[in-house]
Amino acid sequence: MCSKVASPHISVMKQECLQFFSECHLTVFFEGTVGAGGHAKMLLEEHPEMERYIGCDQDPGALSIAKEVLKPWAKKVYLEQGNFADLDRMLKKHKVKEVDGFFLIWGCHLCS
Ligand SMILES: C[S@@+](CC[C@H](N)C(=O)[O-])C[C@H]1O[C@@H](n2cnc3c(N)ncnc32)[C@H](O)[C@@H]1O
Repeated sequence: MCSKVASPHISVMKQECLQFFSECHLTVFFEGTVGAGGHAKMLLEEHPEMERYIGCDQDPGALSIAKEVLKPWAKKVYLEQGNFADLDRMLKKHKVKEVDGFFLIWGCHLCS
């Protein structure tokens, strides 16, 4: 259960994630499990070159928290509710042919 907007849960492996993308020039990114937006916030802070961050999650409650958390980047962030298996459809909707980065991290929790 997510009780606070600021820290609904602790995003895991943050340093590993940052390190993995540290040498990358990220302009278009797809995160399939954006959840409450913790990793997205961290990547957007570290990569000001980011132009579009497409964040998908199946949980509408998580997405409404992510929308708040990611408000400072609202012009770059596109949140989609659904299954990341629909990646092709989501990327087509945003007219994206390729991404510079892609990220999925599984967990079992609901914010709704
Ligand atoms: C560990 S949390 C994500 C953490 C998130 N990156 C963060 O920093 O807050 C895992 C998320 O995956 C979502 N999820 C699990 N399976 C999914 C699927 N097939 N498609 C979309 N979202 C999924 C869950 O709803 C949950 O929000």
